Amino acid sequence: MEKIYLIGFMGAGKSTIGKLLAKKLIYEFIDMDGLFEKRFALTIKDFFENFGESYFRDKERDLLHEVKNMEKVVIATGGGLPVFYDNMDVMKQTGFVVYLKVDGKTLIDRVMAQNEKNKRPLAISNTKKELFSLLKKREPYYLKANITIDCNEKFPQKIVDEIIKEFFCGKTHTKH
Ligand code: S3P
Repeated sequence: MEKIYLIGFMGAGKSTIGKLLAKKLIYEFIDMDGLFEKRFALTIKDFFENFGESYFRDKERDLLHEVKNMEKVVIATGGGLPVFYDNMDVMKQTGFVVYLKVDGKTLIDRVMAQNEKNKRPLAISNTKKELFSLLKKREPYYLKANITIDCNEKFPQKIVDEIIKEFFCGKTHTKH
């Protein structure tokens, strides 16, 4: 199982960390949102607008069933992926799942920032308060990951080093 899934709420830094992690491990990096947009030749925002969230979730699941067969890969998932269908079980059966935990205020400020807000349909359709309750609802799913990395006030490289250490130890515990 030479595969790492990065999970966590929007704005947690899954893509940033994923790229650095893949580089260090000499693995391929897959950004599921980016792959999705390429596949459908539509931004996720436009996909939501044209086909709705539930069709997006179906297609997102299909994509997971494609990438789960890859090896030597770091996969940055979309923030909602772990909470739909049996996606979390699929990830845990086929790879090492890392939850990038960031405090709610930081996350929501990041995704609601002027230059970020328009990229994500859920940041457009929800208020800050609604995003907080979405995070609260999702957190129990995220916490099923093999490990949780507290990313608050840490440089990306430090987060990457912690993930690598845990990946090679194969331990299953919460890291603070
Ligand atoms: C979503 C997160 C987004 C993207 C889509 C839905 C979510 O990915 O998949 O907008 O439900 O949290 P990021 O977590 O990469 O922003």
